[in-house]
Amino acid sequence: MNTTTRCAYNYRVVRQFAIMTVVWGIVGMGLGVFIAAQLAWPELNFNLPWTSFGRLRPLHTNAVIFAFGGCALFATSYYAVQRTSQTTLFAPKLAAFTFWGWQAVIVLAVITLPMGYTSSKEYAELEWPIDILLGIVWITYAVVFFGTVAKRKTKHIYVGNWFFGAFILVTAMLHIVNSAAMPVSLFKSYSAYAGATDAMIQWWYGHNAVGFFLTTGFLGMMYYFVPKQAERPIYSYRLSIVHFWALITLYIWAGPHHLHYTALPDWAQSLGMVMSVILLAPSWGGMINGMMSLSGAWHKLRTDPILRFLVVSLAFYGMSTFEGPMMAIKTVNALSHYTDWTIGHVHAGALGWVAMISIGSLYHLIPKVFGREQMHSIALINTHFWLATIGTVLYIASMWVNGITQGLMWRAVNEDGTLTYSFVESLEASHVGFVVRVIGGAIFFAGMLLMAWNVWLTVRSAKSTEMEAAAQFSVEGAH
Ligand code: HEM
Ligand code: HEM
Repeated sequence: MNTTTRCAYNYRVVRQFAIMTVVWGIVGMGLGVFIAAQLAWPELNFNLPWTSFGRLRPLHTNAVIFAFGGCALFATSYYAVQRTSQTTLFAPKLAAFTFWGWQAVIVLAVITLPMGYTSSKEYAELEWPIDILLGIVWITYAVVFFGTVAKRKTKHIYVGNWFFGAFILVTAMLHIVNSAAMPVSLFKSYSAYAGATDAMIQWWYGHNAVGFFLTTGFLGMMYYFVPKQAERPIYSYRLSIVHFWALITLYIWAGPHHLHYTALPDWAQSLGMVMSVILLAPSWGGMINGMMSLSGAWHKLRTDPILRFLVVSLAFYGMSTFEGPMMAIKTVNALSHYTDWTIGHVHAGALGWVAMISIGSLYHLIPKVFGREQMHSIALINTHFWLATIGTVLYIASMWVNGITQGLMWRAVNEDGTLTYSFVESLEASHVGFVVRVIGGAIFFAGMLLMAWNVWLTVRSAKSTEMEAAAQFSVEGAH
């Protein structure tokens, strides 16, 4: 029977997450600039526990990864899964719960971390009651996402949804296993694991948080928004399938590269190193697939700043996934570990890849879900693009210089075997780099403020009737 049914995509929850991505981006990156300034001028700690670097640093990482990155992933996955499945979100009430639940987790983090409540596990600092709430929200997210895939009107599952799906499933597994703990009071718990096992579980979690949260989820974004913005199909669908299976098979083994030269058994360290080096291949396969999707559309880069955001993010992805495997080699890690080189690598991925692909995708998505043709100002997007690129380059370059300087100064020894430099001397040598990072970070942050202004101008004029019309679609012969 060939009937046509008119439905409406659920854009409400997409709009909510999209707006909060911008809000949390400003909060998280503002905090980043502040803690960067504390490293250059320690008086900014104000001698108060709540404003000390030790408490604000985890607030920065939680705010940028889970609040900014998380909201971007929710918004784009809910948007892409509906459109590629030609259906509305499964269980809209549960979808609404994921929005409010996720915001509640973030607000609780903003309150408890500066107060000093922490499990002390990096990227998993939140105490057990918040962990439980986070687990419930995440499982609900899985129900909504996979429920939508299950009721799709299309025959196959678009590759972007495979990436989003793997990111959702693996994040649930990592969070549940790594957060296992024995509570002793409402705000204090002790890990269920001890010693080297605890360290291994933590970095199995930590590395795969990078691999699945900061990479696989954003690759889902890449597979939807790059072809859409370029108006070209994915370069190779076959490569995308190979990319998917190779990436998820390899990533899960690479965690021990965070524990080189520790009490972890040597074989585990070597396994982590080898798997990390092999990981270069699928990472670059994915990057090339994204880049080559611009075949025949390269000229658009001249006029389309959104496409520029997406392509430059892929270039940074390629750069950080080349650098990572190199840093995983034990002899290289002997120099880079504990230095600012790691911080530079992190932000090549975080600013260059994660933030830039999110920003590009949001500039594509926001006008669509608010019933507008395009963002209010394309010129402002272009300015934002340059601020983001220059800010990222200043950040990374200063940390490379600092990192290598620190590594070399710490290992320099005199003929009689004593250290050539004291630690304080290496800090003094790093000061200029710290100041350049503040400048780079502030430039990136200024771009986020422009984005907020542009989004406000775009959203302000949107009327609910237009938003509804934007959400309408027809399903041919669906019933
Ligand atoms: C304006 C932008 C940003 C600035 C100025 C900034 C600044 C900083 C600073 C100063 C640190 C502490 C470094 C240290 O301990 O030596 C840090 C850590 C970190 N930031 Fe950012 N950040 C920014 C954006 C982001 C974004 C967007 C993300 C993720 C999407 C991110 C993820 C991280 C992570 C994961 C760490 C911990 C790194 C580690 O432990 O090795 N940052 N950031
Ligand atoms: C093939 C891909 C990658 C490999 C093999 C890799 C490898 C590494 C290595 C060896 C370290 C240093 C560990 C240490 O000395 O403590 C590291 C740190 C880190 N990388 Fe990567 N990396 C890759 C891609 C990425 C990407 C794309 C991102 C971000 C989006 C990222 C985020 C991080 C973070 C946040 C840390 C710091 C963890 C911490 O100590 O707190 N990595 N990575």
